[in-house]
Amino acid sequence: MEKKFLIVIFGGLGDLARTKIYPVLYSLYKKKELANCSKIISTGRRPNVGREEFIQILKDSIGGDDPRFFSLFDFVRLDLEKEDYKNLKEILLKFLEEEFIFYLATPPFTFESIIANLGDFLKEFPNERKIVIEKPFGYDLESAKRLNNTIKKHFREEEIYRIDHFLGKETVQNIFGLRFSNIIFEGIWNRNFIDHIQISALENIGVEGRIGYYDRVGALRDMIQNHLIQILTLIAMEPPCCIDEKAIRDEKVKVLKSIREIRYEEVPLYAVRGQYEGYLKDEKLPKSYTETYAAVKLYIENLRWDGVPFYLRTGKKLRKKETYAVIVFRKIPGLFSKLLDCIPQENIIGFKIAPENKIILNFQLRPLGGSLLSCPIPTTMEWSGPNLEAYETLFLDIIVGDHTLFIREDEVEKSWEIVQPIIDFWKDYQEIPIYSEGSLGPKEAEDLIRRDGRIWKYL
Ligand code: BG6
Repeated sequence: MEKKFLIVIFGGLGDLARTKIYPVLYSLYKKKELANCSKIISTGRRPNVGREEFIQILKDSIGGDDPRFFSLFDFVRLDLEKEDYKNLKEILLKFLEEEFIFYLATPPFTFESIIANLGDFLKEFPNERKIVIEKPFGYDLESAKRLNNTIKKHFREEEIYRIDHFLGKETVQNIFGLRFSNIIFEGIWNRNFIDHIQISALENIGVEGRIGYYDRVGALRDMIQNHLIQILTLIAMEPPCCIDEKAIRDEKVKVLKSIREIRYEEVPLYAVRGQYEGYLKDEKLPKSYTETYAAVKLYIENLRWDGVPFYLRTGKKLRKKETYAVIVFRKIPGLFSKLLDCIPQENIIGFKIAPENKIILNFQLRPLGGSLLSCPIPTTMEWSGPNLEAYETLFLDIIVGDHTLFIREDEVEKSWEIVQPIIDFWKDYQEIPIYSEGSLGPKEAEDLIRRDGRIWKYL
């Protein structure tokens, strides 16, 4: 019989729990994936939350009423203080045979205290355990290392699940799938054929009520250090020796280790930032240099990628929501373009991550009825599929204990190392370009890529 488990959600009244975790748990419940789940304990800091109020939160969150699902839940008030853990402990003592899954869906400043308190009281429990930690995993390299050290005192790496929800997205996983299950791509997936790579996560929304978090973090830490660098690793990694979580994560870490270090004084050549006009007013801030837009150029120094730039960019309050990666191939050699009397556009493979899940191949084709040497016109082949909920995929992996789509200790630290010089530089140089709402971002980001004779692509 499969192992029984119990889930404890820290931050059970928070935004993430309401918008993502409860709906995902409900979907898993309906698919009978929670058949072995004996209980879900939600914890929150607000006092006097009665059963009725909590059930109403669940109802709003799943958009319906399902008393059998709700009966799985208990709500326990729990603040950061040690004594608060008593009530939780009393409940957990009734489940000494089960595996515990602790999910930290709380603000990042609470992580260390929760982990330390949990670690202490878990000493008295023989239960197998897992701990799930949301991003951001630290604010910089030093704090990420400190957090890793705190966790390591209480949990083993096999028990830790550091979430990057982008890895649960369909298209992001398709990058791996497409590369390693189709022989036609392997031969061209390198510096001989690829000119450069772009990874963009453009958003039309703003900070959405998260200013306390966002203003301390900014776009580089919020999106590039984790989500976009993760996409980069999947595009750039070597095929793993075997399909197991260690081998796959080893290959991703190898990519991160091969990224050329950006020296402090070089930062302006490799990274630009911007803040949307109106950020201070919208968020009622007297002054802030926090970037709501960031673009970074990275190089991977290995045999496959040497000399191929990876351009990563993200921003808030832009034209529309578009998340995608583009593999831009080299132009065809000069002689042939002379013969054609025009320069055909480059081939492109696009991975559209949001709003749709799509893979696009752009190639050039002779126009219908044209002469043999007519200038070819751009043509597109497209595949698209449904976009499943990333958190559902990740939750299932946690339940079965598969770490492949989670971030390992060395991986998280390496990603911080990559962005740390940019963090340091931007902290010291307090000047920030402004871009207008609904635009494509600051002019400086256009310059970053134009200087190299390239332009940002849109899918
Ligand atoms: C989160 C960031 O990790 O990802 C948010 O903190 C951002 O600022 C979000 O809006 C984007 O994720 P998605 O899945 O909506 O593209």
